[in-house]
Amino acid sequence: MELVIASNNRHKVHEITEILAGKFDRIYSLAELGISVDPEETAPDFFGNALIKANAVAAFTDKAVVADDSGLEVEALGGAPGVFSARYAGEPCSDDNNNAKLLAEMKDVKDRRAKFVTTMVLRFPDGKIVVGNGEVEGEILFEKRGQNGFGYDPLFYSYELKKTFAEASDKEKNSVSHRSRALEEIVKQL
Ligand code: IMP
Repeated sequence: MELVIASNNRHKVHEITEILAGKFDRIYSLAELGISVDPEETAPDFFGNALIKANAVAAFTDKAVVADDSGLEVEALGGAPGVFSARYAGEPCSDDNNNAKLLAEMKDVKDRRAKFVTTMVLRFPDGKIVVGNGEVEGEILFEKRGQNGFGYDPLFYSYELKKTFAEASDKEKNSVSHRSRALEEIVKQL
């Protein structure tokens, strides 16, 4: 079966392709198929938004579609930025502005525990879906470290890797990441 990754984020496409390589006959990005959709993420939770993305892309293809919705949940901020992670500092979305806002909100906060969470939806051409959830725990640092990855990676210190996600190689990040864990849950159900 052929699969389309419903994301315009090249980092995510790369991560998901690495993890699912060998599980599908061929994996396409949206760009490769000339599909241009960026639906509004209006759902109140990760599952709802992942489904919105999967269905939006499915309208343009008869291949299977995989979509994720992810975010950062910070304990001391009551789970924020959560589903609003991409637009935490407002629109247009900017990783730099989001990280600056997070650092400002956490300036005097001692409890810095946080987790990345993902809900992943695999939608088959007949409309059936398989859902997977993944989490990875860590802490928010007081300053950015590392150049790799995207989003909040430079501020997220992974307990398992003992470094930030931006200091980790792709392979290291994929070995523990919320997205790879959500995909593993999906793969187990196939
Ligand atoms: P989404 O693309 O709607 O799922 O929004 C996810 C947002 O959460 C991104 O824009 C990032 O700010 C953040 N995020 C999700 N996954 C990661 C990750 O692996 N590293 C860093 N930030 C992430």
